[in-house]
Amino acid sequence: MARIRLEFLSITLPVLLLAFLLAREFDLKNVGDEGKYIQTIEQQLDLPTTCQTSHLTAFETANPSILLSTSPLDPFDAPKFSALNRTAGEQWAFDGTSASGRSGLLLGIYRDASYAFLGPGNFRVSLDVVWDNGTTFSTVDYLARSVVHVCENQVVGIWASAIDEYYVFQATRDSKHARVHIHTKEVTGSFAIHSTTPSRYPNGALVSDKVASTWNAPMLHWGEPIPAGGIEVDLTIQGSAFRWTGLGGHDRWWSGKGWLEILTKWEAVRLTAGPYALSFWQPTSRLNGVSYPSPFLTKHGVNVFSAQRNSVSETDNHILYRSAPAPRDGGSMHDPVGYEIELISPSVGKKWSFTLEYRNQEFAFDLGGGAGGSAYVGRVKGGEDGEEPYEGVFFIEHVDVESLTVPKLYVIVCEWYYQFRAKVLGRWDVSM
Ligand SMILES: *[C@@H]1O[C@H](CO)[C@@H](O)[C@H](O)[C@H]1NC(C)=O
Ligand SMILES: *[C@@H]1O[C@H](CO)[C@@H](O)[C@H](O)[C@H]1NC(C)=O
Repeated sequence: MARIRLEFLSITLPVLLLAFLLAREFDLKNVGDEGKYIQTIEQQLDLPTTCQTSHLTAFETANPSILLSTSPLDPFDAPKFSALNRTAGEQWAFDGTSASGRSGLLLGIYRDASYAFLGPGNFRVSLDVVWDNGTTFSTVDYLARSVVHVCENQVVGIWASAIDEYYVFQATRDSKHARVHIHTKEVTGSFAIHSTTPSRYPNGALVSDKVASTWNAPMLHWGEPIPAGGIEVDLTIQGSAFRWTGLGGHDRWWSGKGWLEILTKWEAVRLTAGPYALSFWQPTSRLNGVSYPSPFLTKHGVNVFSAQRNSVSETDNHILYRSAPAPRDGGSMHDPVGYEIELISPSVGKKWSFTLEYRNQEFAFDLGGGAGGSAYVGRVKGGEDGEEPYEGVFFIEHVDVESLTVPKLYVIVCEWYYQFRAKVLGRWDVSM
């Protein structure tokens, strides 16, 4: 007879306890509801009748092998899986930074079964914001239903639990415009992003490229429908106005396994300065230890630089990316202050440099043992070497979960998740 290993017990017990507590905490609705509210929400959106629809409920998973989209020609915002299995997940992410460099928001909308063991289902939505004065708000919601309509000119996603509890995104098929509507107990309103840049793939290929690849790192796919654009935010959060304009962006990730199992760390930067916009995403794979940089720079909306290398080269485009030194006058040496980014194109003999200075922290979490993550918004200065530097704003995120091994991870997730009431889980598992 097999004996139950102690290690196994120590994982199972907290998981079961947690699942129970969470189910209570989130007051899970009976997904046996008929979802009539979905129709009511749809009526407000004025949808065409000819859309292809994918309608899932929160505890639904399919047989193990599900179809994963890898075609660059599939619409960015259409579901990348035919259904969900036990480990697959995908994310629609939207972020914004105010023109002051002090306010920001980050919204992740998921279809993700990789944390189903926690109990509240597969449709997580996480929202982190920071106001100009540094006050932050974070929430994670679990919704009962997820409906995505892929229409001729737009993709519409509805994550909802009731007629007055939903998140909706609408993105045009050409990825020029995206709008998000939120209606929950704590947050109401909308924001809109208007792209000023071409959509792109991990290798820097542009949207029209039929041979582009969505492959980003082992087991991870990624596409960026909006590398940068203008954002208009008009939300009310716990009764406080959250209204500003600035820089916005939109990404899509999908993977057959949870992020913590396939990545050890990742970083993301989005910035604009004068005519320039830069988006930079770099995951490091747990499967092979390799990091996959992908800076993408546009000037006046035209791609002028992309790279897939982060070390010096005499021939290949590359990015050099490092922590900025602490200022000499005051400030703790341990507090992060910013970043310096250099983009170098040896073949055309050009170099662009950007100096990022943090203004406000959008979120931070510490998992112990060196694992954790943080995000900031702030002011940036830079441009091509020799040019008068332009000023602008940026969003930056760093997450490091390298020291977490998978069994240990589940124990930590459980304890930590309960302790912090899911506030930022949605960030570091940013999951798939
Ligand atoms: C779920 O589907 C994905 C994509 O086809 C696959 O990579 C993954 O291994 C599947 N998970 C399970 C538990 O079978
Ligand atoms: C910061 O601004 C928000 C939104 O106006 C407000 O709710 C909050 O009380 C302010 N916090 C402080 C510390 O002033």
